[in-house]
Amino acid sequence: MSLSSASKKITVPAIRAMKSKGEKISMLTAYDALMAEIVDQAGVDMILVGDSAGMVMGGRPNTLSVTMDEMLHYTRSVSNAVAHALLVADMPFLSYQVSVEQALTNAGRFLQEAGAEAVKLEGGQSMAGTIRRLTGTGIPVMGHIGLTPQSMHQLGGFKVQGREASRSEELRQDALALQEAGVFCIVLEKIPAALATDISQSLSIPTIGIGAGPGCDGQVLVTHDMLGLFRRFRPRFVRRYAELGDAMEKAVQAYIKDVKANTFPDESESY
Ligand code: KIV
Repeated sequence: MSLSSASKKITVPAIRAMKSKGEKISMLTAYDALMAEIVDQAGVDMILVGDSAGMVMGGRPNTLSVTMDEMLHYTRSVSNAVAHALLVADMPFLSYQVSVEQALTNAGRFLQEAGAEAVKLEGGQSMAGTIRRLTGTGIPVMGHIGLTPQSMHQLGGFKVQGREASRSEELRQDALALQEAGVFCIVLEKIPAALATDISQSLSIPTIGIGAGPGCDGQVLVTHDMLGLFRRFRPRFVRRYAELGDAMEKAVQAYIKDVKANTFPDESESY
């Protein structure tokens, strides 16, 4: 299905209503206008300008050094191209943890300067006060618990979270605290499928899983992962729907061969 320009704009209430209707929610990332336009026209429900941009676009080993300026730039580019999906911007590390005021200022910049319609931030119970202030100001917030990459050093890497009883209970409480603080949905990253199902059933707001099994209310993937463009490593939870990286490499090799053999350009490509 490809969307017509007359199709309906997805809003925060529409995302919440999808859970009540039992309709699964699709979300993908984008960091530039070209990719955002394709993903949007394909009909995805939400587009996330993830701080994964630091790794995918910036070639960095993790997301910790991504800045507000970079995220505002990526979000602006994506918002220029999105007509249908709900546009969510990821708040980078240290843009919301230092103080509630700083979080409000930075979250507001995504809406005011970059065209985002919601922000996402990582963390559970400890972020509830900050989230309450943002949602109370009219800024829709998406939560993110489980494997939270901005805390990778504290978590000891990119391990599955919630296998032990105490951590699984902590994640259940985190989810409830975020719902109570007013988030409109929560990303559950890399937690056991049974725990994600339990959490999803305990909440009235939708959960969006990544490496959290089929019991979530929706799913998110990094677009460059599912298209086979990001090839540096491949987490188990990534399903590849295309091998565009390999296709691009082959195309570039064919171009180089043609240039070396002087078979490009030919007469029809010349003036
Ligand atoms: O930064 C990102 O792309 C994310 C998703 C993987 C949920 O946070």
